[in-house]
Amino acid sequence: MEDTKQTVREGYGRLARQADSLAGTPAEIVGYDESDLAAVPEGAVSLGCGNPTAISGLQPGETVLDLGSGMGFDCFLAARAVGPTGRVIGVDMTPEMIARARENAARGGYDNVEFRQGDIEDLPVEDASVDVVISNCVINLTPDKAKAFAEAFRVLRPGGRMHVSDLVLTREPPTGLREDPDALIGCVAGASLREDYLAAITAAGFIGLRVDAEHDATEWLNGCGDEEDSCACCGSDRRLPQGLVASLTLTAYKPAP
Ligand SMILES: C[S@@+](CC[C@H](N)C(=O)[O-])C[C@H]1O[C@@H](n2cnc3c(N)ncnc32)[C@H](O)[C@@H]1O
Repeated sequence: MEDTKQTVREGYGRLARQADSLAGTPAEIVGYDESDLAAVPEGAVSLGCGNPTAISGLQPGETVLDLGSGMGFDCFLAARAVGPTGRVIGVDMTPEMIARARENAARGGYDNVEFRQGDIEDLPVEDASVDVVISNCVINLTPDKAKAFAEAFRVLRPGGRMHVSDLVLTREPPTGLREDPDALIGCVAGASLREDYLAAITAAGFIGLRVDAEHDATEWLNGCGDEEDSCACCGSDRRLPQGLVASLTLTAYKPAP
């Protein structure tokens, strides 16, 4: 498990250092609009595979936690939505990502956003202290997804909500794919089967689980082999079988008392 995390940390450390040349994930996959793209500080590239903030209905004053915040893209959108009385915490295990995100926050003058280095399987966040958990294309990368969902549940206040975008597999992948480090960094090799992913959320105690959006991501992943450094999910030049990878955006709730 530690080896997997080390491979991911090194891969995302490299991506953070190349951030100036990253194109980010295409809008048709991620679903941000022009005003979102214009609002975040220059240098905060989205490495996501959906748009969890779009469906989160964030309210002024809410506290939001972003699991695997990368360069801070979703944190900055959330910070605008919750306003000066709200707060956003981004957690990421890659030191270079945290450094980038903090530079971006300083550049954009965001003083209601804070970035903490840490593991989503062992969050550096108090019990029952956040209103909303968001996460974008991260949980596929972490070896113990049950633990990550249990941690999200622990830090949410009762009645709080979670909005996640992530990649899942529609069936078992071809032999060798699970062991390919580039495909791991590329958000495919570590991805769960769709049904296992949803079952892990329910097993953590969440209720009201609903899939808000779902589409095939295989074609996009196969299409980016020529520009493999242009976004996180283009880490491998391996051709994936048709329909293997789906992008999901979902919502689930911690029961109210
Ligand atoms: C594909 S990027 C997505 C970044 C960001 N959510 C976005 O949409 O731009 C994945 C991020 O998750 C982080 N990450 C992966 N596994 C993690 C873990 N177990 N704990 C904390 N961060 C993790 C990586 O360091 C990387 O920054």
